[in-house]
Amino acid sequence: MSKVIYYVAATIDGYIADPSDSLDWLMRHELEPGGTNDYESFLGTVGAIVMGATTYEWVLTHGPWGYELPAWVMTHRELPLPQETATGAAADIRFSQAEIRQVHQEMLVAAKGKDLWVVGGGDLAGQFADAGLLDEILLSTAPVTLGAGRPVLPRRLDLELLETARNGAFAAARYRVLGQLQEDRSAG
Ligand SMILES: NC(=O)c1ccc[n+]([C@@H]2O[C@H](COP(=O)([O-])OP(=O)(O)OC[C@H]3O[C@@H](n4cnc5c(N)ncnc54)[C@H](OP(=O)(O)O)[C@@H]3O)[C@@H](O)[C@H]2O)c1
Repeated sequence: MSKVIYYVAATIDGYIADPSDSLDWLMRHELEPGGTNDYESFLGTVGAIVMGATTYEWVLTHGPWGYELPAWVMTHRELPLPQETATGAAADIRFSQAEIRQVHQEMLVAAKGKDLWVVGGGDLAGQFADAGLLDEILLSTAPVTLGAGRPVLPRRLDLELLETARNGAFAAARYRVLGQLQEDRSAG
């Protein structure tokens, strides 16, 4: 059964980008191959990806499109397709503003049993959580604070810590999403 995984790197104060969408603070550090949350191993488990418009625009501005997987880009706007891809093959991208459950169904078909990666941002991961569809968070915390920026996951959720380890400069952790924060469930 395919899982929906939010694989992401954040600062210790909970931001995935600075207020001007810069990731320079993150690019100074690398996850080591073979360690917990290492990118290549994770990518091997993924069959489809989804990202928001800001993340897509960041990717377009920073080099060729590097994803060979079927990708969904959530947007209300008409955005350009990548001019270049890392392999030279056409990028496999659909722009969508469909309801998250429908996007999830479409991704499941494309992923053929592999997991689904919510690339970001945080609110999009939150939309999957709102729909009860977010299974795990693979969080790599960089030794950085920013004081402000794009939040990693602006929701109130209970999580279960499944694994934690050091990977290079990062604190690498894996969490299972249990659902709405216990206190909110009790109140509701
Ligand atoms: N540190 C990391 O690992 C990491 C990972 C991912 C992203 N990032 C960075 O974090 C930042 C994230 O930016 P962000 O917080 O603005 O989030 P985002 O999810 O990348 O973009 C948000 C935009 O996506 C569109 N969108 C989201 N949900 C939608 C829906 N259900 N239907 C239609 N459109 C939808 C809307 O754009 P429109 O309505 O304008 O089209 C919305 O304003 C970016 O700078 C990105 O590069 C960092």
